[in-house]
Amino acid sequence: MRLALTGTPGTGKTAVSKLLSARLKLKLIHLNEYAIKYGWTLGRDAERDSTIIDMTKLKNHSWPDNCLIEGHLAHELPVDKIIVLRTHPVELEKRLKKKAWSPEKIAENLEAEAMGLIADEAEPAVQIDTTGKIASQVVDEIEALLKGKLESSSYDFTSWF
Ligand SMILES: Nc1ncnc2c1ncn2[C@@H]1O[C@H](COP(=O)(O)OP(=O)(O)OP(=O)(O)O)[C@@H](O)[C@H]1O
Ligand SMILES: [Mg+2]
Repeated sequence: MRLALTGTPGTGKTAVSKLLSARLKLKLIHLNEYAIKYGWTLGRDAERDSTIIDMTKLKNHSWPDNCLIEGHLAHELPVDKIIVLRTHPVELEKRLKKKAWSPEKIAENLEAEAMGLIADEAEPAVQIDTTGKIASQVVDEIEALLKGKLESSSYDFTSWF
């Protein structure tokens, strides 16, 4: 079983992945760190203040079985199931302000979440709303969804605009 955990920055992928991988006994792969470690990068995106990841290298890699891959590009990889974390932009803004990013970078990510860009890209996927929850509650919900005990929903934050 290969799982991808994706979402807009600040939705809690890294925090949730640590608990979820332990709970499901899956090897945890932090995609950005992994790509940088192997040199699968194409330089810096100065405007976004981020590293450009070489998607061809990622897609051609033989990913291990029984792993959880977390990162905002994880849904592009050959996985069995994609989980998208969603967060209402009002709460997401509070989380992103703690990351010490530029106001422009924060605004761009809030807009991306309000539009549901990653959720659209990641289809077919299951979505979890993390708003007002702690990471362990999010993990409980993911587990219930994977076991078929909870129905998947989708979330529309476009009214935030
Ligand atoms: N329900 C929740 N689930 C996960 N994280 C949460 C939740 N509520 C608050 N947080 C907090 O939100 C912050 C952002 O989480 P995190 O850094 O894991 O996001 P990320 O999606 O990995 O972001 P990035 O794409 O920038 O790596 C952390 O401080 C985390 O503890
Ligand atoms: Mg992260």
